[in-house]
Formats: sequence, C-alpha cells, structure tokens
Amino acid sequence: MLLQQQALLRQKLLVLGSLAVGSLLYLVVRVGSLDRLQPTCPLDVSLRPPDAGQILLRSLQFKRVLLLHELRKGNGTPEQVHLRDPDQQLPRALIVGVRKGGTRALLEMLNLHPAVVKASQEIHFFDNDQNYARGIDWYRGKMPFSFPHQITIEKSPAYFITEEVPERIFKMNSSIKLLVIVREPTTRAVSDYTQVLEGKERKNKTYHTFEELAVDEATCEVNTKYKAVRTSIYTHHLERWLHFFPAEQLHVVDGDRLISDPLPELQRVERFLHLPAAISRANLYFNATRGFYCLRFSPLFNKCLAGSKGRTHPAVDASVVQKLRRFFHPFNQKFYQITGRTFDWP
Ligand code: A3P
Repeated sequence: MLLQQQALLRQKLLVLGSLAVGSLLYLVVRVGSLDRLQPTCPLDVSLRPPDAGQILLRSLQFKRVLLLHELRKGNGTPEQVHLRDPDQQLPRALIVGVRKGGTRALLEMLNLHPAVVKASQEIHFFDNDQNYARGIDWYRGKMPFSFPHQITIEKSPAYFITEEVPERIFKMNSSIKLLVIVREPTTRAVSDYTQVLEGKERKNKTYHTFEELAVDEATCEVNTKYKAVRTSIYTHHLERWLHFFPAEQLHVVDGDRLISDPLPELQRVERFLHLPAAISRANLYFNATRGFYCLRFSPLFNKCLAGSKGRTHPAVDASVVQKLRRFFHPFNQKFYQITGRTFDWP
C-alpha cells in the first residue's frame, strides 16, 4: 500500500515537473516573439467577413498572447490571469507622432507598465481614408485583448501631420489622452531622410542628398515643400490639434531625453495617464552595443528595439544644419509657448 502510494506520488511529481519545464521552454521561445505574435496585422484584407471559426481562432490566439504577456509582466499566476475576462478595448491613449521622434521606443517602454497593453502594429485608422471607412468596429477588432483595469495604447505617427485626424479622433473619444514625442527638429528631419534613403538603397535606387532636398537650389532658402522639413515645424501641426482638444489632454514627450535617460520621461507619462508609478530603473538597462536603453520585463526577458531604430545618419553639411536650425528657431519658440515646455534645442 505504502509502495503504491509512493509510486503514485513519484508519477505525479514527474508529470508536474515535465509540465513546469515544458511551460518554461514554451515561454522562453514564445515571449521573445510576442511582438510578431500580437495579431494586429491586417489579416482580413478581403471584404468577405471572416467566418465564426476564424473569429474564434483569432480570439483564442489573442487571449493566449495576452496570457503570456500578463505572465511576462508578472501580473499574477496562470490561474489568476485566466480568471479575468479580457476584451478588445478602444485605445484610451494614442501616440500620435512625431515620425522618427521615438514613437516605437515610447510605446514599448510604456508597455512595461502592467496596466498598459499596446497595439503592436501601426493601425493607421484615422489617417487612412480606406481604413477609416471600415468603421470603428474594424478599428476595435485590431486592438489586442486587455483586461478592464488596463488601458490600450496605439501609435501611428502619421496621425500628427494628417489634416483630418484630430477631428476624427475627437469624434471617437473627446476625452482621449494624446501623446506627442518630439526631437530636435533638424535631427528629426535627418532621421526621416535616413529612413527613406535606406528604403531606396534596399531597392538599389539612387536618391538625392539631404542637402539637395532640404535647401531650395534656386533661392538657397530652406525648402518648406520637403516633407521632412514640414513635419519638423511642430507648432503648425499642434495648432490644428488644439482646435479640438484642450492642452491638458495633450502631453509632449522629449524624445532626446527618452534616448539619454528614459525613466523621468516615462514617469511623466505615467502621471499624465493617471497610472500608478510602476516602471522603474530595473526595467531599463543601457546596452552599449546598441547605444540605447533596452527593456527588461523580468530577469529572464530582455528586449532591445529592432535595428531599424537607431540608424547611423549620413553626415550633413554644417552650413545646411545651421540654416535649418535658424529656420526652425522661431517655430520652436512658439512650440515652447504653446506646450509650456522648453527644450534645449539650438
Ligand atoms: P534614429 O534611427 O534616427 O536614431 P520612431 O520609432 O518614431 O521611428 O523613432 C525612431 C527613433 O527612436 C530612432 O531614431 C532612435 O534614435 C529613437 N530611440 C529612442 N529610444 C530608443 C531606444 N531605446 N532604442 C532605439 N531607438 C530609440
């Protein structure tokens, strides 16, 4: 009898042990690829509605990813996480721009917070007429599953500069919280150019130099028709947003500081979003190889941003840099006035 009980106990321990090892291996393999797993990609490009089976499968996928995400963030045991009832919620905060300001880093870093769930992909709902015409339920369907106590955050940097967007967002939720991350305007413009240049080079295409694009050859003045220049005139775009939203609903993040010392910027955002302080120094570590801060979700799971973030910029003629800085200066002053935040831009 005793021997039988011992054998049974041994068997139970063996099963439990292999379950624990299996789950651990599964987590190690899957958590690293969570971003790719979050099913916000446009799966349903066809106009045919997905059938019930597909919807159920996608819903299960979402929930599995959310479960792993919650476990990774240390938000309870598997049993506790299972007990709550996740749903797809519309974003309660949006990172609306600025392109190349550090929008991805900001989203990923905020996602360290247990009460934040990110939409991994840029959905481009408000800036793309075709997507907008699909309606709010389509947008909600692109959101990750989250628990009622959590807030969903989406980022699409094109929102900041697209004319129709503030009104469209206002119609969805007039009390939504808006985040804008900015960087020194000339550096941002060069970063913008570098991204486009890399795309051209990948296709073996030749492209203009930054100097050719940023300065009008005929007048030797800054070329305000060049999109990378126009995007960096932050005050022009911001004023459009303020026709719809009060300044208190809009928080400006310093993208240069997010690079050099992210935590104080993230703590400001936590306060703005009325979230309890949860992101700490332990969540961030400087990776000398990358030259940037990377994310630590737990002692086991670290993550740096993809290599497309933090490109080497081409050298730009010093006189062109100076011309651009002089050009942006008055717009920057106005931007400081409106936002109530001064940046150490030249
Ligand atoms: P560069 O590639 O010019 O260096 P966005 O996500 O809006 O496209 O912004 C990209 C920029 O985010 C990068 O621009 C990089 O400087 C900045 N960034 C800020 N924090 C970062 C981080 N922790 N890791 C990588 N890039 C970061």
